[in-house]
Amino acid sequence: MFAGTRSGGAETDSSLPERVSADMPCDQIDRTAGWGPLAGLATRFARQFEAVRSCTDPSYVRPDWAERNEQLARDLLPVPPADFLCHPAIAFQMMMGERIVPYELPYVRERLGDDALLAEDAVGSPPTAAVPDTSIRTSPNTVHQLYHLLRYEEASGRRVRDADTVVEWGGGFGSLMRMLVRLHGGDPTCVVIDTPVFTALQWLYLSAVLGEERVVLHHRAPVRPEPGRVNVVPIGLVRDLELEADLFISNWALNESMPAAQREVVARRWFGADSLLLAMHAGDPFAAVVLDHGARATLLGDFMPGQQYLIR
Ligand SMILES: C[S@@+](CC[C@H](N)C(=O)[O-])C[C@H]1O[C@@H](n2cnc3c(N)ncnc32)[C@H](O)[C@@H]1O
Repeated sequence: MFAGTRSGGAETDSSLPERVSADMPCDQIDRTAGWGPLAGLATRFARQFEAVRSCTDPSYVRPDWAERNEQLARDLLPVPPADFLCHPAIAFQMMMGERIVPYELPYVRERLGDDALLAEDAVGSPPTAAVPDTSIRTSPNTVHQLYHLLRYEEASGRRVRDADTVVEWGGGFGSLMRMLVRLHGGDPTCVVIDTPVFTALQWLYLSAVLGEERVVLHHRAPVRPEPGRVNVVPIGLVRDLELEADLFISNWALNESMPAAQREVVARRWFGADSLLLAMHAGDPFAAVVLDHGARATLLGDFMPGQQYLIR
């Protein structure tokens, strides 16, 4: 378990937490502890990962992410701990601290009109926060993902639900795609592209929160996305991915990939998408490329200095 390693922010810390069961003989460790009715799904993670493990492209992956991937794979096998969201490769890289909630939650609530979407899923043991004047527990991460989608709607004048096909480059543990499917309300065709270990984790997380029938992890070429499902694609198959998307999303991800990956996405015209939502630091060299393709920059806000959306 990764209990006690929760982060309050996005600081980088490569030191691994002490695993509670590290000194126990293997045959005494119940790796499905805490998974409850999802234990069967969790035990299939290893097989799914094995199927995509070699579907990578080292020329796309920055050394810091390659290292995080190795660490994550080591610690999630054979069965991910039930509190996998506390792993440093996740907690320190993609979980927000509570400090963003007072800035983002009022905006999200006003635009959503219905607090139900804010209810957090227990899968992975995320840190939660109260939604004032309700009995709902949300999480800073869920608020943050909804904030991105709603800021996109405001800046572009388009609704998420107008996109039939959505592709996300670098989807973390699957949080944004989970919220996009729910906000959309229909059966969009979704594609998430990531490194092999993250795609296996996205398969697990999204299957747990959306239902396994809604998710497919691709492991061989050519990749033809299945309509109405979340299609998870490891980066080694991107060149064999047949896709015409309406909306391309990449928050703090394509800019964290190697230039070869950025060139591939630009050469593919963002997988055909007219609409773009990217987020990165305003000083990132890749921002200029996205601006050149007609996106407009808009700052997240004073609570995240220097961070911007690029929206088209
Ligand atoms: C900082 S995290 C951001 C995750 C998520 N977009 C968010 O905002 O919470 C970067 C994401 O990009 C992924 N990533 C890193 N290098 C990548 C590459 N070369 N190709 C695809 N995804 C990559 C990571 O695995 C991770 O999912």
